[in-house]
Amino acid sequence: MLSLGILGSGRGSNARSILEYIEAGRLDARAACVVSDVAGSGILELGRMHGIPSFHVDGAPFRTKLDGAAQDQVIGLLREHGVDTVALAGFMRMVKPALLRAFPGRVVNIHPALLPAFPGLEAWEQALAAGASESGCTVHFVDEGMDTGPVILQRRVPVLPDDTPASLHARIQEQEHLAYPEALALLASGRVRLEGGKVVRS
Ligand code: GRF
Repeated sequence: MLSLGILGSGRGSNARSILEYIEAGRLDARAACVVSDVAGSGILELGRMHGIPSFHVDGAPFRTKLDGAAQDQVIGLLREHGVDTVALAGFMRMVKPALLRAFPGRVVNIHPALLPAFPGLEAWEQALAAGASESGCTVHFVDEGMDTGPVILQRRVPVLPDDTPASLHARIQEQEHLAYPEALALLASGRVRLEGGKVVRS
């Protein structure tokens, strides 16, 4: 059974889907804790509603990365709660090597595009601007790069002619809510693991 630490900055719709799969017995995991860098975020409220220890950690003085004392605090919380797998679910900071070293091969992320296409922010807007005919989402192991780690799985969606950024993002998010629990289930069963920086499937 996975012992999950879920890190997020926003609404927490991916976290909600993960919790629903766990509660329905469809994902062999327990949510050990939720951590957010945004006080009052939806994901913290969600964690508290589900009775999961949920913490705000102030990421200052950094704005776009989790580093220094804040990173140490997050690692401490994850360890205290017995976390073995860290799921980034809309966490808007780059995680740094200390966290990756604390959970080797056990930090995963979801990205709203078919990586390696459109890494970085607002990937659905990037897909529209590039005139892509399809996009989707990717669950991947996290490495030191920006959305560069080995892919666990992807789900695809069409880009439609009248799409707006919001409509495309909503279509991608529907698939995210399936992809993230599916990917975590692959980890939980041992059918996917990271060895020597490469994804091994069995
Ligand atoms: C998702 O689109 C995810 O791919 C990206 O951030 C968004 C988080 O949404 N990394 P939510 O907070 O899970 O609703």
